[in-house]
Amino acid sequence: MNIQWYPGHMTKAKRAMEENVKVVDLIIEIVDARAPGATRNPDLAALGRGKDRLIILNKADLAEPEGTERWAAWFVSQGIRSFVMDARSRRDLKGLLRAIEEASVKKKARDQARGILNRPVRAMAAGIPNVGKSTLINTIAGRTAARTGNRPGVTKGTQWIRLGKSVELLDTPGILWPKFEDPEIGLMIAFLGSIGEMAVDQEELAGEFFRFLERTGRTEGFTERYGTEPSGRPEEVLSRIALKRSLLLAGGLPDTRRAASAVLEDFRAGRLGRICLELPGKL
Ligand code: G4P
Repeated sequence: MNIQWYPGHMTKAKRAMEENVKVVDLIIEIVDARAPGATRNPDLAALGRGKDRLIILNKADLAEPEGTERWAAWFVSQGIRSFVMDARSRRDLKGLLRAIEEASVKKKARDQARGILNRPVRAMAAGIPNVGKSTLINTIAGRTAARTGNRPGVTKGTQWIRLGKSVELLDTPGILWPKFEDPEIGLMIAFLGSIGEMAVDQEELAGEFFRFLERTGRTEGFTERYGTEPSGRPEEVLSRIALKRSLLLAGGLPDTRRAASAVLEDFRAGRLGRICLELPGKL
């Protein structure tokens, strides 16, 4: 299927990010644990050159635990530090703090060379839309409720949030452009809701999602929720769901467009079970 999305506002977001990157030691790249490869942005490597880096496999509560384990092992094998979490939960913040400290290798070496002691790590969160950047920042801010004032060099109005004694996080995340030259990657990102609804035909997308569930044998949660298999013609599957959910157009016809949006929302929120869209290698 054809996914089109024009990056008008992304130029501005990228410029803001380039400014903010200059003042941080470490970039926390947030990805979706259900598709950690597809939700990365390769541009970040260039943008964050010379900075320490930590990948967060977020929304791990929505991914298959074995899948997340495999991804975590894969990142280790690539020499990339990663941390698995649910950004809505404060439970993971201690671990995150430790992971950030451990990942701040270049920063520590620089400080040591200059004889600087106990300077907090300055970090920023970055990622493509909908991976949980704001949620993470809010969870951290909610716990410490300590925001520092403006600092020179950072976009006006930008503040720092403290995590423990040793980390300061920018309260504005870096927003990155999803990469989807590969149509498979485009689909995963669209399933996850990182591409605006207007840019993708929701019924066509739901049809692709049904095919994915069938191909990979992940139909159980779907069948349980809707009392029907995702097999057959997508329009028919959507009609059945629309009728069951009383999603009707004037005249009583099934509203397949709303049914498509409902299914995709259900997947995004984990109501179809814990589902990985990709595993290291291939699914
Ligand atoms: P963004 O800034 O990267 O664009 O993402 P944002 O934090 O807005 O999060 C997008 C959606 O993902 C939100 O749901 C948020 O609650 C949810 N979310 C973020 N992190 C996690 C996580 O680790 N686990 C789970 N299960 N969900 C997560 P929403 O429905 O759009 O908004 P809301 O109704 O929850 O506020």
